[in-house]
Amino acid sequence: MKLWGGRFEKSTDKLVDDFNSSISFDCRLYRQDILGSIAHSRMLGKCGIISVEDSALIQKTLAEILSDIEKGLVEFEVDAEDIHMNIEKILISRIGDVGKRLHTGRSRNDQVALDIRMYLRDESASVTEMLVSLGKTIIDTAKSSLDIIMPGYTHLQRAQPITLAHHMMAYLQMFKRDIERLSDCARRINVMPLGSGALAGTTYALDRQMVADELGFAAITENSLDGVSDRDFAIELASCLSIIMMHLSRFSEELIMWSSHEFGFVEMDDAYSTGSSIMPQKKNPDVAELVRGKTGRVYGDLMALLTVMKSLPLAYNKDMQEDKEAIFDAVDTVKMCLPVFTRMLATIKIRSENMYRAAQGGFTNATDVADYLVKKGIPFRNAHEITGKMVLYCIDRGKPIDDLSMEEFKSFSENIQQDIYTEISLEKCVSGRGLPGGPSRESVLKSIENAEKFLSMF
Ligand code: ARG
Repeated sequence: MKLWGGRFEKSTDKLVDDFNSSISFDCRLYRQDILGSIAHSRMLGKCGIISVEDSALIQKTLAEILSDIEKGLVEFEVDAEDIHMNIEKILISRIGDVGKRLHTGRSRNDQVALDIRMYLRDESASVTEMLVSLGKTIIDTAKSSLDIIMPGYTHLQRAQPITLAHHMMAYLQMFKRDIERLSDCARRINVMPLGSGALAGTTYALDRQMVADELGFAAITENSLDGVSDRDFAIELASCLSIIMMHLSRFSEELIMWSSHEFGFVEMDDAYSTGSSIMPQKKNPDVAELVRGKTGRVYGDLMALLTVMKSLPLAYNKDMQEDKEAIFDAVDTVKMCLPVFTRMLATIKIRSENMYRAAQGGFTNATDVADYLVKKGIPFRNAHEITGKMVLYCIDRGKPIDDLSMEEFKSFSENIQQDIYTEISLEKCVSGRGLPGGPSRESVLKSIENAEKFLSMF
């Protein structure tokens, strides 16, 4: 018997039951659904819409159902369609007509909107927690690599010397913005839709604010049509999650490259790598590769949500049931990636000698040679030209600029003096970049301090 069976003369085709049913994936909303129903029934009692005794019995029974579900004692039915009707059906089977009063002044349309908002509110908080712990690991890595010099790249060509700490702290900035985005998105998730009814509110004098307060919502939705048909918050969250994955995929890509023989900058811990079934020598960075790969899947979830919602007329449409698998998958994927990525990073071995050698090899101090000439009075464009010639000369002879003799230096410019050797050392190139945001030890320490202050707020 369907809870909505009154106007029907035939039962639903079995194929339609299966097709329509969402219980296989929305069963995970059981907790939110029950807490929402407890708050709704308490409010119905308080407002005199149902009796206080009925309200109390409903609340008590819902709490029992919750604990039975958590003990694994409850089986949901496909025929009961979704989590909302499954729980209501169980309630009615336990307390009969009293249970039938729960759905007064409510529709599944505002109920499902409530449940997803409550669910995503919790999930975005737990993603935030994971980002904070990734942030702390990044900071630990940065603290231990303040003096590890490596080449910074543009176009994947060695560009200028930086430190590994500076490179790490670049990622910290990205994840910091991700945390900010999530907390901003959470403000829009945390709005209470019950009272929107099916679409046009309800004639019962519900106390919407009471329900919002009880469930910890910061506000109530302001339009009943919008209250049941808004899924912006899920799309927004999927977009925040996609950006997190985009950051993780860039980080992963670098670690994959860095752990190649060609770079040799890092080595993944054995516990975070895998071998090959045929090539005995292989140690593959599978974790980083999978994180990179799963990025595509989260983007797919975002696209699915946008496309489900595209062109839907107001208010609720069944299409919207398709929101759940996509947003659940996006959340699950990110929650799977973040902790394993964090552990992988925490256990990585850094090959600082190879980083240093790479920074020495690629003329990464050429800008500093040009800047040296500028400080000796030569206009920058001329300095650039002179240094370019020097680089060409060094390429021909297979040596770094630092190895030129004083005589050789003088042949390029009379303005060059003995101090060139200290002024263009890799150490000086880094320490000389002491502007806020630069790679010098002091600047990076300042940015670590700011980041620690930020993370301590969560
Ligand atoms: N299972 C539905 C969903 O996820 C719940 C709302 C159904 N409402 C309706 N009128 N059919 O969207």
